[in-house]
Amino acid sequence: MSARRLLVLTGGGDCPGLNAVIRGIVKRSNSFNSHKDKFANSERGWEVFGSIKAYNGILNDPQEIVPLDSKMVSGIHVLGGTIIQTTNNGGPFSWPVKKQDGTWDKLDRSDELIQKLQKLGMDAVISIGGDGSQRISQRLFEKGLSVVGVPKTIDNDLGATDFTFGFQTAVQIATEAVDKLVTTAASHNRVMILEVMGRNAGWIALSAAIAGGADVALIPEFPYDIEKVIEKVNARMQGGKGFAIIVVAEGAKPKEGRPVYQEHNFERRHHEKRLGGIAEQVAQEIKKNLDIDIRVVVLGHLQRGGGPIAFDRILATEFGVKAFELVLEGKFGTMVAYRHPDIIAVPIAKAISRSKVLSKDDKLVHTALGLDIHLGV
Ligand code: F6P
Repeated sequence: MSARRLLVLTGGGDCPGLNAVIRGIVKRSNSFNSHKDKFANSERGWEVFGSIKAYNGILNDPQEIVPLDSKMVSGIHVLGGTIIQTTNNGGPFSWPVKKQDGTWDKLDRSDELIQKLQKLGMDAVISIGGDGSQRISQRLFEKGLSVVGVPKTIDNDLGATDFTFGFQTAVQIATEAVDKLVTTAASHNRVMILEVMGRNAGWIALSAAIAGGADVALIPEFPYDIEKVIEKVNARMQGGKGFAIIVVAEGAKPKEGRPVYQEHNFERRHHEKRLGGIAEQVAQEIKKNLDIDIRVVVLGHLQRGGGPIAFDRILATEFGVKAFELVLEGKFGTMVAYRHPDIIAVPIAKAISRSKVLSKDDKLVHTALGLDIHLGV
């Protein structure tokens, strides 16, 4: 009897730990194939394949599909990025097509995708991706695709899971940046402003502010009052240590203001506008009021590059192993999630219905306020 076929893909922005998930899936399928364990109620084993750049590998002509065997995944859990690449442009329901006048249109290629997967003999799909990718998975599941989801985002803002892999790595990198900024800020009596990622949620910013001992943390959830920020900075410069560290999430905005987006001279095909520049805006506002030296550092994609720390390697591997087991159990339309201390399955539909942002009642906010970290409110 021929083996069953599983397709794995990574979609959306990359995230440290994607390769560890892929390796977890492949190793678990190998252990299933070689040992007859509790799931082995069938004689047929599994072959695992990867689609290059999410569903593009299936929809592109020629198709780009790679076999994911032990050799391919050997040692990849320590690597950043994704060996099967990713994209956050479009997807099967909104495939970008350039029109003659140079503008972009969207094409629904979802039926074609399902037909192509059938033709390839794919029995199941594991889609590793953020909320956008999981929304696509849900719609494909409703069209009959046997899909299991694995959540991914460094922002940690998916409601269904306590943590997403990649988040702790990003916090570690941001914290190391704060640590470095403290020494140079103290030496020069400066204000250093660190801009970190976090589109809608301040998990990275607030965690790094606490871990690194920052004075101010500005996050998307709490639009800030610049007057209060200036007051706090002034107090730190005059009466305090003579320097100040501000961590600001890229999605933070002033009260009655807007987030700051980067200017582009290239087209963003159906993708959210790129955030960036809020730290510089905060610096300018402070400079208008205080005669002090300020420097801005934008950490950007350094937070997403490189290998995952041990916590994220473990979580990603647990997600990979569980996702394969959900395929074995036929629990399609579900997504793996971490609910301490368990790795569980949640319906994708439920997982995408709620995002996780910080609120005043959150213990991280409570801790920050307890440390006198100013949140701009
Ligand atoms: O959602 C994860 C994230 O890293 C956000 O924090 C950030 O705004 C966005 O992705 C950046 O995306 P891109 O790499 O496409 O610029």
